[in-house]
Amino acid sequence: MTRRQPALILHGGAGASVPAAQRPLRQQGLERAFAAAWAILQHGGTALDAVVGATVAMENDPEFNAGVGSCLNQDGEVEMDASLMEGTTYRAGAVGAVRHLRNPILVARALMEEGRHVFLVGDGAERFARARGFLPVSREELVTERQLRRWHATRTAGEPGTVGAVALDRAGRVAAATSTGGIFNKHPGRIGDSAVIGAGTYADDTLGAGSATGDGEAIIRATLTRTAVDYLRDGRDPTRAAQAALTLLHRRTHGEAGIVLLDALGRVGYAYNTPAMSLAFLSGDTLVVQV
Ligand code: GLY
Repeated sequence: MTRRQPALILHGGAGASVPAAQRPLRQQGLERAFAAAWAILQHGGTALDAVVGATVAMENDPEFNAGVGSCLNQDGEVEMDASLMEGTTYRAGAVGAVRHLRNPILVARALMEEGRHVFLVGDGAERFARARGFLPVSREELVTERQLRRWHATRTAGEPGTVGAVALDRAGRVAAATSTGGIFNKHPGRIGDSAVIGAGTYADDTLGAGSATGDGEAIIRATLTRTAVDYLRDGRDPTRAAQAALTLLHRRTHGEAGIVLLDALGRVGYAYNTPAMSLAFLSGDTLVVQV
């Protein structure tokens, strides 16, 4: 086994600029999530454990639109999507439109580990979760004051906050995870890219891994993460591959999105065509956090 230097890049969503008052808490949230996932990788943990660790940290943080703090649909309900994939054997798990789970990414992982299905939605996903010991949470435990105020006040599209992570571990395995409350004021039952393998999440040890954020419908139509990972062929730099995938997405769909990407060597990259994107990654030994 060739030992590799681990690598990790996280995002906390792409979209409109984050209001100044929210930036410090969001920055701290990204730092905490990065530290949790990096510690896993440094101690020899798997890329899969690292991306799940980062995603759980951000799902538990009300500053992000995932888990606690998810945005509301047009009925004022939370409906969350999440998925993950590991690039060694192409195992994957996803849940869509789930309402009563604190950490949808953990249920997606349980589904992946069980291996029978890849994607469960709605009541079926929640029944699967309860049968595996995940305790249901009430709507009130997930809905924050801020999201409730937005829903009552504006009913318009707003700040970003989908979360995602991609990692490479010492054994050369890559993994990706993505989790979201979806888009604000969406139709009940709508599922976006974050639950769709190849759109919001993709991993392949021979090439790399990606997690996307932004216009879910456009990302699905362009199979954005699969496209970006394919662009890593022939040693293309991850930032250039991410840019090329976004160019294709925009040309074909006029969509706005962001993507984080890493390759099999552990080089990280990202690109977005939105006004802002929240990110955390290492540049040398320095943690770069952008909100
Ligand atoms: N990219 C998140 C969503 O569209 O649901």
